[in-house]
Amino acid sequence: MQREGNGHREQYETREHDVLIIGAGGAGLRAAVAATERGLSVGIVSKSLLGKAHTVMAEGGIAASVGNVDPEDSWRQHFMDTLKSGKFLNNWQMAEIFAKEAPDRVYELEQWGALFNRTPEGKISQRPFGGHTYRRLCHVGDRTGLELIRTMQEKVLATEADIYMETTVTKLLKKEDRVVGAVGYTRESGKFIHFKAKAVIMATSGWGRIFKVTSNSWEGTGDGVVLGYDAGAEIVDMEMMQFHPTGMVWPPGVRGLLVTEGVRGEGGLLRNSEGARYMENYDKEKMELSTRDVVARANYTEVQEGRGSEHGGVYLDITHLGYEGIMKKLPTMYEQFKNLADIDISREPMEVFPTVHYTMGGIKVDPETCATNVPGLYAAGEVAGGLHGANRLGGNSLSDLLVFGRRAGEGAAAFVGESVHSADIEGDAVRTEIGRVLEPLEKGGEGESPYLMQQELQVAMMEHANLMRDGDSLKEGLGKILALKDRLPNVRVGGSRLFNPGWHTAQDIRYLIQISEIILRTALERKERRGAQWRLDFDGPDEELGRINFIVTKNGQGEAGIERREIPPMPEHLSSLFEEEKAKA
Ligand code: FUM
Repeated sequence: MQREGNGHREQYETREHDVLIIGAGGAGLRAAVAATERGLSVGIVSKSLLGKAHTVMAEGGIAASVGNVDPEDSWRQHFMDTLKSGKFLNNWQMAEIFAKEAPDRVYELEQWGALFNRTPEGKISQRPFGGHTYRRLCHVGDRTGLELIRTMQEKVLATEADIYMETTVTKLLKKEDRVVGAVGYTRESGKFIHFKAKAVIMATSGWGRIFKVTSNSWEGTGDGVVLGYDAGAEIVDMEMMQFHPTGMVWPPGVRGLLVTEGVRGEGGLLRNSEGARYMENYDKEKMELSTRDVVARANYTEVQEGRGSEHGGVYLDITHLGYEGIMKKLPTMYEQFKNLADIDISREPMEVFPTVHYTMGGIKVDPETCATNVPGLYAAGEVAGGLHGANRLGGNSLSDLLVFGRRAGEGAAAFVGESVHSADIEGDAVRTEIGRVLEPLEKGGEGESPYLMQQELQVAMMEHANLMRDGDSLKEGLGKILALKDRLPNVRVGGSRLFNPGWHTAQDIRYLIQISEIILRTALERKERRGAQWRLDFDGPDEELGRINFIVTKNGQGEAGIERREIPPMPEHLSSLFEEEKAKA
């Protein structure tokens, strides 16, 4: 290949849309519906195949206070539960919008064809989940996320939106301070595309793949948060990673695969190797239905202290439901254990252990419009931070991505209406980016394997940024990640561009390293125990830090700058809810 200055002489295609959506999970698809309803041209880019999104890993239900089973439920209680679980680090404005709008998004989904389980009277059925005061999880057996994606996919396919499957975006393009498009390549052919857009919505989900044991599939490498950060977006609460209490532990090939909280919602009991229901030592009142941070730490502690199962987990027992009950409520879990572990869960308990599942942190957005601080850039779903604070409630992710996916689509559409024109980028920004992306393939010579670097990174993050952390270990972890960062320019891969997983990993490793560095830096900065951030070198929560979000931006030197930003006080109509509850108690 010939080069010209910094640019590459590679031919590329140009595609133009009013709104470009990066990510085709629930948030991206819901945003697409909103933007196309406004008559805009929409392009949806998916790194994977349509339908293959982390959304499907929210199995047990979608949280919304529709009050079908417990009529006393209300948006107010959902709001309070969300903040209590998030240890008040949440963006309360987002939480208010979320709790109020979640029921409408569920009914809308039903109207669009989602087939929910039903109560005897024919209403959408709701089950309990950890930390929710009432039975609030509208569900489709134990495959709610899958049904959501199926429904949204059908809805989107009926629109004019263009879908670019198996296409990886590597850079956001800016003109002056505004985002005006992106560069990407198709994984099948390695051909490059310049996407011109008036607005871009980031909906790329999370970054569980920085850990070895995770419920995230290969796509969960955090592309979107780094693309946004590189473009100048503020990111928030990055130290807050959610370990789901129950992932599979055996056989080794499926370690980390999700075991839905729906099992505990349906009465599943946790026991240690001594047969004890140990949750009474961690949360006597809520027991197995305590919040995820508490149950995950309990499971971890039982194993650490020598009361673990044969393969290093704890036991989760749902046998009381019997085969028929399980097939009615948790058929996927039955099949999963039968096919992958040869375990009949109607007869024997499952072995489970915490697995990295979700990222509370992410791109900071305006609660009303999902706009970021970078004009033209929007974010929704897991890649956006703020709603869940220090610990997300199970089931809140599905409603999050519908509520804020819709708002992002509408916010971006309104921006496009105002900004009118699409902008041409300056100079040879596309060619420069193509040159950068091709470098690991074209440079030749001996170099670093991105696979081995990814493995090293995952091991380091498991060791130093696990669900219990301390300052010395976090520092050691940061040292390891910075050493990996120094090695990045030496990454080389062989083969051609056609379906070359090594080349794709050479792109991903940059994201994984950047995110890990930010997580370790912010985890070092938050010197307390709060939700998912559990520092063993501190005794408990710190009052002052309870009012602080850590906002990270790329500074002038290209490094992660951390700002402590005070959370604004809640208005009276929200703070009084907690006061009233306290007075009643
Ligand atoms: O356990 C689950 O079904 C996961 C739900 C969620 O993460 O919201």
